[in-house]
Amino acid sequence: MSFPHHRPRRLRQSAAMRRLTAEHRLHPAQLILPAFVKEGIDEPLAIASMPGVVQHTPDSLKAAATEAARLGLGGIMLFGVPAARDARGSAALDPDGVLNRAIADVKAEVGDELVVMSDLCLDEFTDHGHCGVLTEDGRVDNDATLEIYAQMGLAQVQAGADVLGPSGMMDGQVRVIREALEAAGHTDTVILAYAAKYASAFYGPFRDAVDSQLQGDRRTYQMDAANRTDAVREVMLDLEEGADMVMVKPAMSYLDVVADVAELADVPVAAYQISGEYSMIEAAAANGWIDREAAIAESVLAIHRAGADSILTYWAAELGRRLMEENA
Ligand code: PBG
Repeated sequence: MSFPHHRPRRLRQSAAMRRLTAEHRLHPAQLILPAFVKEGIDEPLAIASMPGVVQHTPDSLKAAATEAARLGLGGIMLFGVPAARDARGSAALDPDGVLNRAIADVKAEVGDELVVMSDLCLDEFTDHGHCGVLTEDGRVDNDATLEIYAQMGLAQVQAGADVLGPSGMMDGQVRVIREALEAAGHTDTVILAYAAKYASAFYGPFRDAVDSQLQGDRRTYQMDAANRTDAVREVMLDLEEGADMVMVKPAMSYLDVVADVAELADVPVAAYQISGEYSMIEAAAANGWIDREAAIAESVLAIHRAGADSILTYWAAELGRRLMEENA
């Protein structure tokens, strides 16, 4: 008699058996909610290319942070959209600037109940939309930008940020921020370095979310999609410069990189499921082409399976709520 000697299907025969044998599962504490706050609006504004995501007012942001804390999410990552921009991104350093105010508001609201993170980058604050200041001939000036990042980091910590997320991909950014923090006595501030950040077409909807005025692209500072070992190098450098955690971004098209970094780094690894990755699923679901809830859960689980300890996702609250109910 001939029969299969191995029957992997035994362990898939029921939901209960699959639950018993699941190698990976999601928990709300692994999810980080990115949130946008816009200066000078009275009502939250829908972002057309990101259905379900808004530009917050200070009040709606505080409500979102409170909800994130209630759900036990890992954190909230704040992005500011200022009313006025200039070539040097001055509003980023102003304690009354939209992002610094938002950090202070959210921190006052949630205290130590939720980890408050802030994006540390100039692109939302510059009128040209680049992540750094420009030289006279229009190139992004690495070292001049570093000085501003160091001050921006201090402003964010003074506002109350627990975690700084430098995302501008300037060489040496983690070191200058760490040195500025140490010199000012902020020895407990965590740096979550956007260590392996690729130039990606999937950032498209984010440009709407922050009203970006960028002309051109970020290919002279963000990484090339063709490269895998470059991510290893960037992560090693950021760890050496003083990062406490590292991030891979985008996530879904870069799961190989997430896996490499998880293997290599002896610190927590985050991955960012970015705007375009969100909007693709929302758009397909809105057309009835995929099962929305299943696709969301599968996509986030895949990022975790690849090796990410934490996932930044615009579905963090929704998914956190679902996970909470499933486990209730
Ligand atoms: C830079 C920054 C970007 C995103 C997060 N931080 C934009 C970029 O690098 O072009 C994109 C996030 C997303 O697409 O969801 N401040």
